[in-house]
Amino acid sequence: MTRFDLTGRTAIVTGAGRGIGKALALGLAEAGAQVAVVARTEADLLEIVQEIEEKGGKAHLITADLTEAGAAESVVAQTIEALGGLHILVNNAGMNLRKKANEVTEEDWDRVVDLNLKASFFMCQAAGKIMCEQNYGRIVNIASVAGLVAMRTGVAYGSSKAGLIQMTRVLALEWSKFGVNINAIAPWYFRTPLTEALLNDEAYLQEILQRTPSGRIGDVEDLVGPAIFLSSDAAAYITGQTIPVDGGMSIFGF
Ligand SMILES: NC(=O)c1ccc[n+]([C@@H]2O[C@H](COP(=O)([O-])OP(=O)(O)OC[C@H]3O[C@@H](n4cnc5c(N)ncnc54)[C@H](O)[C@@H]3O)[C@@H](O)[C@H]2O)c1
Repeated sequence: MTRFDLTGRTAIVTGAGRGIGKALALGLAEAGAQVAVVARTEADLLEIVQEIEEKGGKAHLITADLTEAGAAESVVAQTIEALGGLHILVNNAGMNLRKKANEVTEEDWDRVVDLNLKASFFMCQAAGKIMCEQNYGRIVNIASVAGLVAMRTGVAYGSSKAGLIQMTRVLALEWSKFGVNINAIAPWYFRTPLTEALLNDEAYLQEILQRTPSGRIGDVEDLVGPAIFLSSDAAAYITGQTIPVDGGMSIFGF
């Protein structure tokens, strides 16, 4: 199992206060990594820091609004100062404003794309500089199946996630020769604060389940193994790829 061991590695997980990011931060810590957990407010992060430390791991709390100029460099600098290095970046912070295309305002578009795509890119850039210099790095971008197929999640969200998937490929082309592997995970529906209201709508839930070969909604735990794998030496020759973690939804044609 040493191939999956993250002992001695330092990771940043954005949006780690709740939902998918929280599960991934805990999972990477359980695999041995020290983890810098990032969210907008300290209150959001106290629980995850405590959970990691209770399990014998090391966590460092960083508050940042990733859409602000200079936030990415600051998060990377704080991580290196507090934890002594940087090997893994998980770009998880993301949001959606579900609207029909005709109702999307410029402000809606900017908010979604600024976080899901632009902030993720500048996190990659800030981390990538360090990783390319040291000839080692793993970046995992949390995209969505909405970036692979057309979904009712809305045009800004789908476009931002499709952009994130293409960004993953282009950065892999530039950075893989420096030992920096960059991949994406494309989740289907998982129960988190982002999707809670939707999944509480029984009719909508049944529609989703009919399109899910595995016959169930994802549990955030289902994302932990793939994230550890892509962050580890086991994935040394995998780069630029997007792995759907979707109970088979994306292979389902009818
Ligand atoms: N839940 C799902 O079904 C699902 C499906 C596909 C993809 N995703 C993606 O997974 C990721 C996590 O989703 P989730 O469901 O856990 O969402 P969530 O809303 O529960 O959590 C998002 C996290 O991002 C943080 N965040 C938001 N804006 C930020 C900002 N400006 N700066 C810093 N942090 C910020 C929030 O504080 C929160 O911790 C997102 O990128 C989302 O698009 C989720």
